[in-house]
Amino acid sequence: MGLNTSPRRCLASVIPYAPGKSIASVQRELGLKNVVKLASNENPLGPSPKAMAVYRRVEKQCHIYPEGASPELRQAIARFHKLAPEQVLVGNGSDELIRYLCEAFVDPEDEVVVSQYGFIRFRQQALLMGARVIEVPMVDWTHDLETMAKAASARTKLLFVANPNNPTGTYNTEDEVRRLLKTVPRSTLVVLDEAYCQFAGEWDDYPTSIPDLVREHDNVVVLRTFSKAYGLAGLRVGYAVADPEVLSWLDRIRMPFNVNLPAQQACIEALKDAAFVRRSVSVVSTARAPLAASLRELGFSVQDSATNFLFVKCPIPGRELFKGLLKLGVIIRPLDEYGLKEHARISIGSRDQNRQLLAALRQLIGVPV
Ligand SMILES: Cc1ncc(COP(=O)(O)O)c(C=O)c1O
Repeated sequence: MGLNTSPRRCLASVIPYAPGKSIASVQRELGLKNVVKLASNENPLGPSPKAMAVYRRVEKQCHIYPEGASPELRQAIARFHKLAPEQVLVGNGSDELIRYLCEAFVDPEDEVVVSQYGFIRFRQQALLMGARVIEVPMVDWTHDLETMAKAASARTKLLFVANPNNPTGTYNTEDEVRRLLKTVPRSTLVVLDEAYCQFAGEWDDYPTSIPDLVREHDNVVVLRTFSKAYGLAGLRVGYAVADPEVLSWLDRIRMPFNVNLPAQQACIEALKDAAFVRRSVSVVSTARAPLAASLRELGFSVQDSATNFLFVKCPIPGRELFKGLLKLGVIIRPLDEYGLKEHARISIGSRDQNRQLLAALRQLIGVPV
């Protein structure tokens, strides 16, 4: 039976997002028991126990709809950042907000500026709207904000910067971002996706986008997530901070109950658990340099990272490495979808997880002479 109709033409250019392989699927397919996942930049500490206590407490209310616009969580985020609630919009992961930005602002043939190896979801969502995607080459695996600013025209609705970037792990400084904001047309919304910002906090020149840049520029949208430093990827909660008028357009197309009830309540608690976030950051910053050094000894070239993952050039093709490690019970992320066949992305895990990764790598590729 063939399809008797045709999907929207722009779908031909949309390649679906390839998420990290799950532990359950590897256990099922390869019959392995002990599987380590270092493929989706999740938190090796697990979720904040305080947030989970609230999650369990509200489970008895799961027969009722949540409040549609997550007003309590919105207020809690606003309080956390010393903003007004109207400057915050909550999404089903920051991913949903990337989608809303494109759906709300991009008409077919409008331009969207992205970076060559910037987070792939920006391009995918823009293509879904039939946009002309302008891709600006990176310099040293970093967004070239000066060239991106020059690429933006009156037709450019959105300019996306992941800061720090996934998958390259690099970041742009406050000076670079400020220069970008001086140059782009005011009609271009500059989206600063800061999913990994907590891990970049130790660099003094990392931008203070909230509240400074958002207050100073009505065309800045900052995206944050509970999936990384807060350890709540499974709950799917992210938020946007921006000018209320910008957010009002996203709110218009928001799904009626986009964030579920336990997730809303657990995230309010997670915001209060600053000690957990500090511990998450500390686990990563303690392991980052030693793990990079061990990988270099094994013949990898490792990019400096301001995130909870390492972007590496592998001694064997990335897909081969991924497949070999899979058989040894370790899941990493190959980067073919970015056209990076020699590279891979490896999340920084717990001490045990990193040890298991290194043992598997030694078994697979040995120590080069
Ligand atoms: C740069 C970046 N932005 C956004 C996201 C989406 O995060 P979430 O939808 O879990 O909030 C990710 C997830 O890995 C990411 O790496």
